[in-house]
Amino acid sequence: MSDTNFENLWGAIPYPAFVIDVDNVLLTCNAAAEFFSGTSVRQMRGKKLSTFIGEGSVIQSMVDQARQGSGYVVQHGIELSWADNPPRLNDLHASGMPNGQVLLLLHPRGLAEKMDRSLTHRSAARSVAGMAAMLAHEIRNPLAGINGAAQLLAMSVNDDDQELTTLIQEEIKRIGRLVERMEQFGDQRPAQREAVNIHNILDRAKRAAEVGFAEHVRFIEEFDPSLPPVSADADQLSQVFQNLLKNAAEAAPKVGGTITVKTAFRPGVRLQMPGQKSESLPLEVTITDNGSGIPPDLINDIFDPFVSSKAAGSGLGLSLVSKIIVDHGGVVECTSEPGKTKFKVLLPIWREPVKEA
Ligand SMILES: Nc1ncnc2c1ncn2[C@@H]1O[C@H](COP(=O)(O)OP(=O)(O)OP(=O)(O)O)[C@@H](O)[C@H]1O
Ligand SMILES: [Mg+2]
Repeated sequence: MSDTNFENLWGAIPYPAFVIDVDNVLLTCNAAAEFFSGTSVRQMRGKKLSTFIGEGSVIQSMVDQARQGSGYVVQHGIELSWADNPPRLNDLHASGMPNGQVLLLLHPRGLAEKMDRSLTHRSAARSVAGMAAMLAHEIRNPLAGINGAAQLLAMSVNDDDQELTTLIQEEIKRIGRLVERMEQFGDQRPAQREAVNIHNILDRAKRAAEVGFAEHVRFIEEFDPSLPPVSADADQLSQVFQNLLKNAAEAAPKVGGTITVKTAFRPGVRLQMPGQKSESLPLEVTITDNGSGIPPDLINDIFDPFVSSKAAGSGLGLSLVSKIIVDHGGVVECTSEPGKTKFKVLLPIWREPVKEA
């Protein structure tokens, strides 16, 4: 066996790795770290770690701990922002060396965890769905009664009180819309899978948006024309993209708002679920808007039912998106920074069912 070339070995480590000197100065990093940080090893070398991660960061205290005798420290699920990059979730490993230097290794949290979170969202969505169907049904009848009474009242009251009857009617309409939304949510029909051209779905959703809620935004389309069909229920998939476009349009600025809809074929994306064979999710659709972004304290909850920052929002839109996509065996994920909020949907390709002999 030939000798190991440590320079090559260092370069081959697929995770970002940094070496930090006794005085917390960066000594070196590997290629994955350069890629992760968007900073070259030359720009990094000789600079204090705090230049990139700020003062008082949990990473600094891990490095200190690793150096002061504990030898090895690991922390899971740390939001790390390096310089001006958006924060990303990582597991962090810090390993002390005899000369006081510390090896810092990042392990980015991957697709599997997002999938895991999506599954949790799906079960939350399922339990809400059952209740939603029942509630919608129970609310509809009394609401119709109240509406009728308000209309009768409106005919007989004086002008001053008209304002009140109008208010009642408007609020009834609002509840009506919420009920409709809940009913959609409670739709438990089994998905009808067929070969669906995703561009047709996107095109339809975009055209509906343009004449309605997205009148003020400019659409940019970047379609990969060679995209194979997706295995999907076309109606349900339409709902997904309508919800994502609606959110994007509501977030995009009134002037200069843009929504970019992009499709791509990524044959390398596979998902390994515990105890199951790995799934290929090569179809990627991203919807990006240039709105002000999702506040960091909200972003981990947006797929949960009833989470909304909007005065008239039900908070069911993304919960429904997540439920439908996971039912299709796909994944949806979101990254957001001011001026760039991106929802990425990954889906499996359509396969001809095997005919029974
Ligand atoms: N593109 C986006 N930009 C900024 N914030 C977003 C975006 N998409 C979703 N959000 C945030 O996530 C929350 C949840 O979205 P969701 O679609 O589930 O509900 P909603 O839009 O508030 O209500 P509804 O969909 O019923 O109208 C929103 O209230 C908003 O705060
Ligand atoms: Mg919404």
